[in-house]
Amino acid sequence: MTQAYVIDEMISAKSIAARIEALASEIKTTFADTDKLVVVGLLRGSFVFIADLVRELDLNVEVDFLEASSYGDGMESSREVRILKDLRGEIGGRDVLVVEDIVDTGFTLSHVMRLLSSRNPKRLETIALLDKPSRRETDIRATWTGFEIPDEFVVGYGIDYAQRNRNLPYIGKVRFT
Ligand code: IMP
Ligand code: MG
Repeated sequence: MTQAYVIDEMISAKSIAARIEALASEIKTTFADTDKLVVVGLLRGSFVFIADLVRELDLNVEVDFLEASSYGDGMESSREVRILKDLRGEIGGRDVLVVEDIVDTGFTLSHVMRLLSSRNPKRLETIALLDKPSRRETDIRATWTGFEIPDEFVVGYGIDYAQRNRNLPYIGKVRFT
């Protein structure tokens, strides 16, 4: 059960779209010489972001997904990361971009990056839509970040609170009532 809450808009759908357009153009430059970029979405939170991002990338892309669990249904990271669903494709010798919804403590992204590096990709970069630097407990940093936000619990644009609110078109912060 979750306590009653309201959602206050923090980042509009329009600002997200504008930011994604700018990030995509940097990513296209970085990977300009790739024959095929493997874009890896971390389920489930990145599904909206990856959908919008790949449509801004006029590169040859393959889309794959990986599911790591750290949160359970609460608001605190469990700090223990498990891989619930691995990639379908091989990434050895490939250009890879990992797409994350939000970097909080950093445990999820560190774990995933260690795992994927061990498969020897040619190049491994990361993009996170949101970053809460004040919450970091590991020294991971995404190559590209959409927005740095304060220590607030956010939902929308793919991000949930106890599996709710993923379908909001904007990022909002949860305020308990
Ligand atoms: P980390 O391992 O602590 O960096 O947590 C990363 C994951 O926790 C993200 O991929 C999200 O799924 C989840 N998470 C972190 N902060 C929030 C939030 O404010 N709202 C919803 N989920 C969050
Ligand atoms: Mg996540």
